[in-house]
Amino acid sequence: MKIRSKKTPSQSKIEMTQLVLPNDTNLLNNLLGGRMLHWIDIAGALAASKHANSKVATVAIERVEFREPVNVGEMVILYAKLTYAGNTSMDIKVDVYAENLETGIRIKTNKAYLTFVALDHQEKPITVPRLKPETPNEISEYKLSEGKRNERKSKLAK
Ligand SMILES: CC(C)(COP(=O)(O)OP(=O)(O)OC[C@H]1O[C@@H](n2cnc3c(N)ncnc32)[C@H](O)[C@@H]1OP(=O)(O)O)[C@@H](O)C(=O)NCCC(=O)NCCS
Repeated sequence: MKIRSKKTPSQSKIEMTQLVLPNDTNLLNNLLGGRMLHWIDIAGALAASKHANSKVATVAIERVEFREPVNVGEMVILYAKLTYAGNTSMDIKVDVYAENLETGIRIKTNKAYLTFVALDHQEKPITVPRLKPETPNEISEYKLSEGKRNERKSKLAK
């Protein structure tokens, strides 16, 4: 039997920066929710791909809330990190901040949890390395993701 390797969340974490341009905005001159979701999806996919060293597909996006508008001309910074690795799937948390470049003030705008599946060249799910959380925060996120997975699986089994 092949032994699965282990990777830490730090080994695949991603920081992605975007500038909000007029083409990214709604009629209020604020960032479009759909554009934000696109960036969240890309940041999450990069972290998942880096962990699995393969192509990945988004299989689920948990509820995302938009509580703070992001204005045109602001910088958006997305931090994506694995919280859990299953057999072929990976859970990723993406934390999003907006920074006003004139004042330097940075606020947290969103938090999202996504699940990706690692795929081979025939687009079939493949096994990913296990996740080895290290910090207290990584361990607590790991337990949270594990709990949500068990809940989802027990609902499916009913
Ligand atoms: C990703 C895909 C290949 C998975 O194929 P599948 O036959 O459904 O595979 P499985 O049922 O074995 O599930 C694979 C993994 O995804 C997980 N998964 C499936 N549905 C899920 C959901 N709704 N939420 C979270 N995880 C889910 C399973 O638990 C499994 O994880 P594990 O191997 O770590 O235990 C297939 O669902 C697909 O092609 N989806 C479309 C992907 C896509 O186009 N994404 C872009 C959206 S626009």
